[in-house]
Amino acid sequence: MAYNLLKGKRGIISGALDKNSIAWKVAEKAHEEGATFVLTNAPIAMRMGEINKLAEKTNSQIIPADATSIDDLTNLFTKSQEILGGKIDFVLHSIGMSVNIRKKIPYVESNYDYFAKGIDVSAMSLHKMLAVAMKLDAINEWGSVVALTYMAAQRTFPFYTDMADIKAMLESIARSFGYHYGLAKKVRVNTVSQSPTKTTAGTGIKGFGDFFDYANAIAPLGNATAEDCANYCITLFSDLTKMVTMQNLFHDGGYSTTGVSNVVMESLGVKAEE
Ligand SMILES: NC(=O)c1ccc[n+]([C@@H]2O[C@H](COP(=O)([O-])OP(=O)(O)OC[C@H]3O[C@@H](n4cnc5c(N)ncnc54)[C@H](O)[C@@H]3O)[C@@H](O)[C@H]2O)c1
Repeated sequence: MAYNLLKGKRGIISGALDKNSIAWKVAEKAHEEGATFVLTNAPIAMRMGEINKLAEKTNSQIIPADATSIDDLTNLFTKSQEILGGKIDFVLHSIGMSVNIRKKIPYVESNYDYFAKGIDVSAMSLHKMLAVAMKLDAINEWGSVVALTYMAAQRTFPFYTDMADIKAMLESIARSFGYHYGLAKKVRVNTVSQSPTKTTAGTGIKGFGDFFDYANAIAPLGNATAEDCANYCITLFSDLTKMVTMQNLFHDGGYSTTGVSNVVMESLGVKAEE
């Protein structure tokens, strides 16, 4: 069911790789809610061609941009305003990549060139996006920027390796830049801390399947799906959340504040008491 929550709003949505991507679902929902937007991804991701289907389905154009390149991001924000006919109202940062995770390198043996690459792609890219947008004055007052993160920024999940530290930096950038952008232009910046989700980035993490099931057994509502996450992002892009900024918002079915669940106790052979 659509509510026209984004009617008349213009956006930029990064990170839609295939139909499992969280960004893919956000684009579908934003379209349903009346927004117009540009899709963007790293030039290398375009070669897979999947994003064209999404562009067709949502009547959007695609602008390739490596999120670590200031030139690419400048082109992205400049061209998006031309295509959409005005300043931007919402931006989704849905970008994550760790070479250390890809190469299955244990945290204590992290390769520092890979670590630096992960920081640039997955965290500093948010700073770069915001800095470019601010310099070009490309985002409307009360505009909303959302970046996706994971709870390993607050608590230890050993298999998440360097991405835990990188997500902590991402969340910090949302707070720090959110202050400056809020003061200067009333632009809001938040992170959404999402449940484990079966996407290319998610399933690349060692032991993802077991961890997904474990989180599902802990969270009283179960894991939030990519579609649930998309719905939440839409509310954050809408005017209904206009005073929310500089927050890390957990979207995880209650996982982050549950100590122990009956399901997990019972799986250990312990009779859980009500
Ligand atoms: N899947 C999960 O379990 C989960 C949980 C919490 C948070 N997240 C976060 O959600 C976001 C989206 O990931 P996803 O799970 O939808 O996976 P995904 O693999 O579908 O999306 C990751 C995207 O990052 C893009 N990307 C990589 N390098 C880039 C670059 N240099 N420039 C521009 N784009 C680049 C990829 O092309 C891809 O589209 C990530 O930040 C991820 O960390 C995922």
